[in-house]
Amino acid sequence: MKSKFYLFFALLLVVLAGAMAQPKDPKDLEKQHDRTMKVFIDALLAKMTLAEKIGQLNLLTAGEATTGTVVSTDIDAKIKAGQLGGLFSMSSPERIRKTQQIAVEQSRLKIPLLFGMDVIHGYKTIFPIPLALASSWDTQLIKQTAAIAAKEATADGIHWAFSPMVDISRDPRWGRISEGSGEDPYLGGLIAKAMVQGLQGNSLADKETMLACVKHFALYGAAEAGRDYNTTDMSLHRMYNEYFYPYKAAIDAGVGSIMTSFNDINGIPATANKWLLTDVLRKEWGFTGLVVSDYTSVNELIDHGLGDLEEVSARSINAGLDMDMVGEGFLTTLKASVAKGRVSEATITEACRKVLEAKYKLGLFEDPYRYCDSKRAEKEILHPSHLEKAREAATKSFVLLKNKDQLLPLAKKGTVALIGPLAATGANMPGTWSISADLENTASLFEGMQAVLGDKVQLVHHLGTNLVSDPAYQARATLFGREIKRDPRAEEAIRAEALAVAAQADVIVAALGESSEMSGESSSRSDLNIPENQQRLLKALLETGKPVVLVLFTGRPLTLTWEDKHVPAILNVWFAGTETGKAVADVLFGDVVPAGKLPVTFPKHVGQVPIYYAHKNTGRPQQKEKWFEKFRSNYLDVDNEPLYPFGYGLSYTQFNYTDLKLDKDQLQAGQQIQVSLNIQNTGSYDGYEIVQMYIQDVVGSVTRPVKELKGFEKVYLKKGERKTVTFTITEEDLRFFNADLKFQSEPGTFQVFVGPNSRDTQSLRFVLN
Ligand code: BGC
Repeated sequence: MKSKFYLFFALLLVVLAGAMAQPKDPKDLEKQHDRTMKVFIDALLAKMTLAEKIGQLNLLTAGEATTGTVVSTDIDAKIKAGQLGGLFSMSSPERIRKTQQIAVEQSRLKIPLLFGMDVIHGYKTIFPIPLALASSWDTQLIKQTAAIAAKEATADGIHWAFSPMVDISRDPRWGRISEGSGEDPYLGGLIAKAMVQGLQGNSLADKETMLACVKHFALYGAAEAGRDYNTTDMSLHRMYNEYFYPYKAAIDAGVGSIMTSFNDINGIPATANKWLLTDVLRKEWGFTGLVVSDYTSVNELIDHGLGDLEEVSARSINAGLDMDMVGEGFLTTLKASVAKGRVSEATITEACRKVLEAKYKLGLFEDPYRYCDSKRAEKEILHPSHLEKAREAATKSFVLLKNKDQLLPLAKKGTVALIGPLAATGANMPGTWSISADLENTASLFEGMQAVLGDKVQLVHHLGTNLVSDPAYQARATLFGREIKRDPRAEEAIRAEALAVAAQADVIVAALGESSEMSGESSSRSDLNIPENQQRLLKALLETGKPVVLVLFTGRPLTLTWEDKHVPAILNVWFAGTETGKAVADVLFGDVVPAGKLPVTFPKHVGQVPIYYAHKNTGRPQQKEKWFEKFRSNYLDVDNEPLYPFGYGLSYTQFNYTDLKLDKDQLQAGQQIQVSLNIQNTGSYDGYEIVQMYIQDVVGSVTRPVKELKGFEKVYLKKGERKTVTFTITEEDLRFFNADLKFQSEPGTFQVFVGPNSRDTQSLRFVLN
């Protein structure tokens, strides 16, 4: 009896202790998880040899999709020997299971591998390219697309996404502008957060979420002359106030890993930049996750001129890099560096801890095969609901640049001729960085449109002209299976045939612009025109006298000065993913009213680059009345204005902005001020409008931009409907990094602007006391 009592008492104590040890506050719970993780990882680290720790820092590619030279061939042997921490660009649950099995069954410590991939804008269901998604200004939608990407990628065995890419760029010559959210820190920061939340969900251990990796830290989008991988050189003032913001936003949103960039930053490439990786990232921002290099970016330090492989590897790990992608500098040299006292074992242990922590958080120690369920892949990949979301996202990413005399939407009747090199290529629809897309089974614009229009519209198509005249250029611009069939005949002969096809039609839709690989990595351009042969085709199509709609494909801002003047309707569809064709039909024929707004400025001329709305005034600003004046900051041959400003985009309906009001004209710290206006849909369609709010700090201790985006709201208005939109401004919204890099506001006058884009605004002033 007595012993039973003791047993009961002991059990009760265990239960009570368990209940007490399980904190209710999520922060305490997180701390407890961190403590449990630390105990586990400390114990594991204690068992590891120096070589095994170094092995964890090695990340290799399975070679399915690569952007450089694959160095390693004996991957299985390395896994067995404990010389590999992770692999990327391998897919399918079966293949990943088999490879994971080698790690957990045949290596001494049975540490599971990380499996990564560039899951940038979708996995198999491809969403619009990031620059296009940013044009939706819809962070909820973007979060949903990232969550679907994570669901599909994890169903295929992958649990680490090299995404989001948040590099601000104001130089459309740079091809990778397509992979980011454009020029603005505020919009970019909100999107960075949405992407991290979408990919990582509420818990990394969830089977449908994955570890995100914000990249490329840092300033990659400011490469000189827009040439990829080129040097950047930037003031601290600009870094802190503009370019750093989205990386920091991703970190604040809890991103688990970060990738260093290729570029040199003020003399020290990011991968070996201690100030960047340790002082800013770890100490100032408190980042506790994993820092990985970009593809061979450690080895590339040799060409940057920082020394031999041993030297640059030691420098990188001492700077704060944890994992070495592809180049194996860490694997092959760190042991020697420890022996020579160049790198401490403690530094290696800490880097290894970061890799192990990522694995722990993903739940891989609990179940290394948790992402290897083939049933999930069958059920979840390309699920109809994902395709539906892709179609919605595509329509929301389109930006209507011009619509003279309401040419659009078109009526669903008659004959429509789809002419141009982008009309019949499925492989180019997903856009750049969609390495897991099924290119062969992606519908072309023609096929997608036909699926929607059925027999209501007779749709005909023709190539019209080659992508570019020069076959060698076309070959460079259609790599990775993104082929556009080339017609070897003379341009005039191809065009004559296209004109004959167009002659049968009531309306011509010209599908022109860039191929998907004319933007993206290593796809910089020195000229931003639609290729000249395509322009000649466009002119000929206009000369038929029939209505012409330009459906523009591009991964960057183009210079469309001629097109804007002569073509009645221009719909910029960027690269919109798997459902492009259907989405274009939805918008062209009015089932969806376009609402996208540009997240980046479109210049009039490439010579205006870099061009962005949040510029400084200069001491000799251009005058409103006169675009050129001697001894002012202007050009002789073009004015300073962009063709389409940041935030610009039309709708089929019209919106009228009135009654801009501030609820007071003085603001104190700790209080708020409200700016409101009425917006009315005065056109003949229901539709969304993205109302934008900008602020200028009129007088500062340092020069401040002419305006900066500080808020926006996407509102839906039925025909004739009127709504009041209100933005709240607090003192915190007015802070910036001053000359001492202190983040603070300064009392004085502020101007607040509200409008449909960054140019056409109304404004009022208030004072911060
Ligand atoms: C790119 C990264 C990418 C990596 C792995 C590099 O060339 O710069 O964005 O994540 O390759 O594919």
